[in-house]
Amino acid sequence: MIVATTLAELRSALAPRRDAPIAVVPTMGALHEGHLSLVTAARARAATVVLTIFVNPTQFTEQADLDAYPRALDDDLAKAGAAGVDVVFAPTAAEMYPTGFATTVSIAGPLTETFEGAVRGRAHFDGVATIVSKLLLAVLADTAYFGQKDAQQVAVVRRLVRDLGIPTEIVVVPTSRDDDGLARSSRNVRLTPADRVRALALPRALAAAARAVADGEQDAAALRAIAAHELDAAGLTPDYLAVVDSDGFAELDRLDRDAVLVVAARVGAVRLLDNVVLAPVTVSSDILDDRPVAAPTGSP
Ligand code: PAF
Repeated sequence: MIVATTLAELRSALAPRRDAPIAVVPTMGALHEGHLSLVTAARARAATVVLTIFVNPTQFTEQADLDAYPRALDDDLAKAGAAGVDVVFAPTAAEMYPTGFATTVSIAGPLTETFEGAVRGRAHFDGVATIVSKLLLAVLADTAYFGQKDAQQVAVVRRLVRDLGIPTEIVVVPTSRDDDGLARSSRNVRLTPADRVRALALPRALAAAARAVADGEQDAAALRAIAAHELDAAGLTPDYLAVVDSDGFAELDRLDRDAVLVVAARVGAVRLLDNVVLAPVTVSSDILDDRPVAAPTGSP
């Protein structure tokens, strides 16, 4: 496995490999099973898998959150090697943001101003869009892999790739979950045992709403109420709980197009995000793997 820390090293590592498919998995490190599921998906479609590890300061709107973000480079390199990664790109902040850096990729409109954009501030998605653009342009991979867990980030990435004409296909991998249903996240290590139990109200709330969709419920307010009941029972007050369209993140009244139920809530010291796809037209019985959930009248 090659470890590149500069853009020049990355380019020379990839130059001899450009005659076969290249995949990139962008991460901020502290690798867990969720990241490794992205690597596995990438491995299946590419001859060369590049994993980027960079805790991007510009997407953190609170210094304390940036300081607390777990960093474990040696452990990450061992896991990446074992997972079959070919090239790790682990640059410094100075490499990605050289002196005088003055360019920001900023996506206008509700997609970046609502939900995570509203809670964290719009600088969050400016930071994500800028670093993802830089990473995609640095690697120029055929495919790039992102987790469904960060559904709004996925919509932002799809938008910037279309708008900037970046020739990389975005592949979205279903949310990876622990056996108890909790979505895997680098932040989960900061949950106390008691908070971890309370956190299970998130996947339970999503599962309850998805079951209601499978039973024919199409009304967004009803679905929100069903999910809110589970959160209330665990004493959790969500930052948001909404049915949105998966592309633009506009709030929906009914499931009349591709929709996602998104939730974010603080559990103890940790802010957790989760979502379930509620597309109205595809049949599935298992809601926890994020395959679309059926409405009974939908066609397969
Ligand atoms: O999801 C993440 O880990 C980050 O937001 C990403 C996409 C690597 C950009 O820093």
